[in-house]
Amino acid sequence: MAEALAIASTDKAERYRELLPQLASLVDGEPDLIANLANITAALRECVPMASWVGFYVRRGDELVLGPFQGKIACVRIAFGRGVCGTAAAEKRTVIVEDVTAFPGHIACDAGSRSEIVVPIVKDGRVVAVLDLDSYEPAAFDEVDAAGLLPIAELAGTLAW
Ligand code: SME
Repeated sequence: MAEALAIASTDKAERYRELLPQLASLVDGEPDLIANLANITAALRECVPMASWVGFYVRRGDELVLGPFQGKIACVRIAFGRGVCGTAAAEKRTVIVEDVTAFPGHIACDAGSRSEIVVPIVKDGRVVAVLDLDSYEPAAFDEVDAAGLLPIAELAGTLAW
């Protein structure tokens, strides 16, 4: 049986640091991609209290398709290059949006969402998915989140895509 997460710090950077080895052991030896992605979203939701939604969009051809997530029901298909997720995927870079109303092409799955961060998942140089976190708070995510999520995205990139 999986054990509960142990995240004690109130410091954001430290919380990501505490989470990483626990995620690594959670997915270690488990070959099932969906199970691993699902557990990563649950762990992140617990680790990042500001997040109203945490999930993966998985690349299927020229589209991103909704994968395992935690939160309200969400848009299923996003074209590469569209919205925050599609931009992060097409440009292979982390995108931080402090105010989603000011981001041209932002796709509003939840009208309450105010800010967002999207990190590409890269395997063998190719974007295979993105990891998306949304928040009801404006400017909830910053470079600390980007730095904390990067090794988690790298870990996700090692899974069985
Ligand atoms: N806002 C995202 C769409 C996904 S939802 O936030 C879950 C975007 O603009 O790509």
